[in-house]
Amino acid sequence: MRAELSFASLAQIETELLAVTAVDTQTAKGPNVKPAPVLLTSEAAVSAAAARVLSSGEFKAGSNETVLLHAPAGLKAKRLLIVGLGKKSKATVHAVRNAAGTAVRYTKPRAIRQLVFAVPDPSADLGLTLPSTDCTRAAVEGSFLGDFDPDTYRSERKDVSVQSVTLAAQASADQTAIRTAFNEGVILGESQNFARSLVNEPGNKLTPTILGQRAAKMASETGLKSEVSSTDKLHELKMGAFWSVSQGSAEPPALIVLKYEPAGVKDGPILGLVGKGITFDTGGISIKPSDNMEKMKYDMAGGAAMIGAMRAIALLKPKVRVIGIVCAAENMPSGTAQKPGDVQTAMPIADEKPGKTIEIINTDAEGRLVLADGITYARRLGATHLIDAATLTGACVVALGMINAGAFSNDDPTFEKFQAGLATTGEKFWRMPLSDEYYDMIRSDIGDIKNTGGRWGGAVTAAEFLHAFAEDTPWIHLDIAGLAWIEENKPFIAKGPSGVGVRSILEWVRSYE
Ligand code: BES
Ligand code: MN
Ligand code: ZN
Repeated sequence: MRAELSFASLAQIETELLAVTAVDTQTAKGPNVKPAPVLLTSEAAVSAAAARVLSSGEFKAGSNETVLLHAPAGLKAKRLLIVGLGKKSKATVHAVRNAAGTAVRYTKPRAIRQLVFAVPDPSADLGLTLPSTDCTRAAVEGSFLGDFDPDTYRSERKDVSVQSVTLAAQASADQTAIRTAFNEGVILGESQNFARSLVNEPGNKLTPTILGQRAAKMASETGLKSEVSSTDKLHELKMGAFWSVSQGSAEPPALIVLKYEPAGVKDGPILGLVGKGITFDTGGISIKPSDNMEKMKYDMAGGAAMIGAMRAIALLKPKVRVIGIVCAAENMPSGTAQKPGDVQTAMPIADEKPGKTIEIINTDAEGRLVLADGITYARRLGATHLIDAATLTGACVVALGMINAGAFSNDDPTFEKFQAGLATTGEKFWRMPLSDEYYDMIRSDIGDIKNTGGRWGGAVTAAEFLHAFAEDTPWIHLDIAGLAWIEENKPFIAKGPSGVGVRSILEWVRSYE
């Protein structure tokens, strides 16, 4: 899908479909109260074309509710689609992101190839704060997110794709700022979809090796440095924890390292982005039940989020150094697989120091094993601040459902930077606790640390496991197990991989510029 930007008058734009947003201004409640939808446009001709349907009471501008008019009077557009943002009080930039996705997903199955989405331009008396730059960026993001469908392996996939979406912004706005916001939105939407396309791939089509190839290809296209290595390098680096996960699989692991080094930036922070890249998680010898096991192809969503974020970083060029590391492996049971009770030695933080020893209680707690070595490696490569993302625990999904992802941090200022970005991205992360008492739950009798702490507080003990490797380096851990896969179709996004994390990780990186 192509995205374009226009400052033309909405009434004059010739298009297959013009989409405009509306809010419900009705504040009264009760059985006989009619909705009072109002279009967010300053163009009288557009409001006039919609007047009849808006006063009919048939359309209440509910969140992502749509109504379509053919041959709207006084407009050059062939169709006028009105997309609701919900009650006026709910009309945020995030609602605009979704509305743009809804417009694209409305258009797509109808084989309409082209549409225009009008950036909200509310009349002043509505009292809405919808900055046109923020709305433009969010609407482009939402358009790309809405355009994605997961059915790439259908043999007779009908090509009904939307070929182009045009964002129509007010001519009176700061056109340079709008253009910048538009360009950012394109990069973010495409990068998130890139992550989603990786997560969508089944385990047989996306092995650790292939994930490494995809990341390296992206790196060479965007100007990142990349190095992808495998078993020999893991042994050389003494990554005993990472290697132990891969040892049961016929597929070799991939250690993916991407580097972004902006010209002229010689000091300041180095950000380390570490992702869990389990291309399929059977559980290993502690094998998972077969129900829903097919979902475990998305166990590399944290890694994909980091690869997507690195793409966005390469294109947006913030003035801060970033290292992306994805530890990719397949977790399989076999005669060579690791066993419960095995003891593994993780990568040491310095050559003269011993690596921490890990007692394997459950081979299904493999994400923390690969991340332990990924975090240590990022620190050894000079990372001063760390963020990791992983579909790490079912316990996090039990705690927060599929609404919020879990976030953990050993450093308040670092976390606050991440949290500030959530206002821009609209992604939901909820901070969870860390403390020594939880660490006590994962002390091992035979070695330093064990890889599970039992059922209670499972998301937190998993985070404490990672904390043991991040140590005092400021670090954020994102447990995205509940949000990486969307279970139901929504008007603005298809069910399937969500690409959660890409935009929020990018905002966090930019906060260090
Ligand atoms: N990949 C899973 C976690 C997961 C669960 C992701 C549900 C997405 C949806 C992880 O490797 C895992 O198996 N975790 C175990 C840990 C346990 C053995 C301590 C879990 O959550 O049950
Ligand atoms: Mn597992
Ligand atoms: Zn896993």
